[in-house]
Amino acid sequence: MLLIKLGGSVISNKKNYRDYRESVVRGIAKNLPKEDLIVVHGAGSFGHILADEFKITDGFEEWKRLGFAKIERDMLDLNLRILDALVSEDIPAVSMPPHSFITMGKSMNLDIFDFLLEHGFVPLTFGDAVFDVKRGINILSGDILMMELAKRYRPDKTIFLTDVDGIYTGPPDREDSSLIRELPRHLDPETEIKVSDVTGGMDLKISVMREIANYSKVYVINGFHPERIRAVLNDDDFVGTVVL
Ligand code: IPE
Repeated sequence: MLLIKLGGSVISNKKNYRDYRESVVRGIAKNLPKEDLIVVHGAGSFGHILADEFKITDGFEEWKRLGFAKIERDMLDLNLRILDALVSEDIPAVSMPPHSFITMGKSMNLDIFDFLLEHGFVPLTFGDAVFDVKRGINILSGDILMMELAKRYRPDKTIFLTDVDGIYTGPPDREDSSLIRELPRHLDPETEIKVSDVTGGMDLKISVMREIANYSKVYVINGFHPERIRAVLNDDDFVGTVVL
């Protein structure tokens, strides 16, 4: 089985509200297997801009109600576009919007995924604005869903598609940063010096990837070069990072 996340910075231009990258997503869909697959996508500018503006992770307040509703609408809109790209490639994807079946603070019931997979469907889910037992409302990241799904299904391969070639030793646009080809899942002092520089919320992502590496082989590759998905699936050489 392949578990793949389409990062928000790949499927949208993060700077402009609801700026969808249609041809990129269609290119990715063309390179995915048609079965034994689970797809998760991020939010990019369909989620993060309003999530910040309405301070969703700080919890419920009355003034945030419409903002929360707009995020749900925007995420469903984004999800429908991705669903359309998958189905157009004959992938039998079925959408599972987290806000309709996951409440943060309660255990995550993923039983319906078993049902979908047993019948040969491809579950499609995403990072979302959800209800939260303690805070009222919150943001559930697609990375957390990736972790839960990896634990449950132990896919042979787990791919994170990002807007750069993989995990770098520092900010990817800085000249002295270099691509880390192999990242050990266990912390070791030598590589820690290398990755300690990584910025932009990558720390949390890297710890999620390392955790997933206990259940699956984890790859981080560039979503703008979707042929690299095939290379990973065929065990060919590829440009990217593998977490071992
Ligand atoms: C965030 O999901 C969900 C919302 C902000 C609604 P992710 O954290 O998985 O999204 P990306 O990949 O960073 O955009």
